[in-house]
Amino acid sequence: MDHHEISDIYLSRHVARNGRLLERSNDPRLRYIGQYIPQDKKSVILDAGCGDGKLAMYWHQRGYEKIQGIDLFDELNTWNTFNYRKASISQTGLADNSVDFIYCLGVILYLDDPAEGFAELYRILKPGGKVVFSAHTVHSPFTWERRLNRKFGGEIHLRDVKFKSADTYVTQSRRVGFRVLDMDGYELLWLPRLLRRVYRKLRQSIFGSGKRDGSAPEPWRKRPSWLKWLYATSAYHMLIALEKPEKT
Ligand SMILES: C[S@@+](CC[C@H](N)C(=O)[O-])C[C@H]1O[C@@H](n2cnc3c(N)ncnc32)[C@H](O)[C@@H]1O
Repeated sequence: MDHHEISDIYLSRHVARNGRLLERSNDPRLRYIGQYIPQDKKSVILDAGCGDGKLAMYWHQRGYEKIQGIDLFDELNTWNTFNYRKASISQTGLADNSVDFIYCLGVILYLDDPAEGFAELYRILKPGGKVVFSAHTVHSPFTWERRLNRKFGGEIHLRDVKFKSADTYVTQSRRVGFRVLDMDGYELLWLPRLLRRVYRKLRQSIFGSGKRDGSAPEPWRKRPSWLKWLYATSAYHMLIALEKPEKT
């Protein structure tokens, strides 16, 4: 898929959603990012492939003043909460060593050569800066389900995507110089869609649905290394944290 196709597909998906809603504070992605995002609210943060900008709006609500979002859309209404410009994660147009922290969720899988994306993120990060990225895991039952749907014309946003393992991404990111800080994931159990919804409703009624008011992300629950490995290899999405070493 070229950039225009991807952008058209996601524009129609975003328009259908209420772009002003923040993500919930118990969203696993926010909880994971919360472990690595710098405490200094003046840090330069890049939301690489920001989609409708809900995550960037959330961090803006948390007090971050310098958030840059990039995606493939010509323009995006950010409600004056962050800066947006059209750029690919493999060619951001940002200066060398200019960004303190990057999160890049569900985007790296769109690159024919993810190594190009890692090299670009490495270039723009300041030494000591960190990246959190996520992607579908190749061995997850969620991905098998999506592949099956794709065969019948569904999942058009994933039409040409080649799913990759966490090991492949980690190898590529190490090659450009990154240090791998952590590998994990979210949503391990596969259930038919209906059961999943029932489970979510049940969980929400027991633990609450998470606040959408920009309150601090709930803490990430640490897992033993074998469980992390299981999540990184076969959960719905892997979550990987990288660091650009201080001395290169
Ligand atoms: C699954 S959505 C994720 C959006 C957002 N990161 C989130 O987690 O809500 C994937 C996004 O990546 C964008 N995208 C795909 N390829 C890209 C590229 N090469 N550079 C920048 N953004 C890209 C799409 O337009 C889409 O908005």
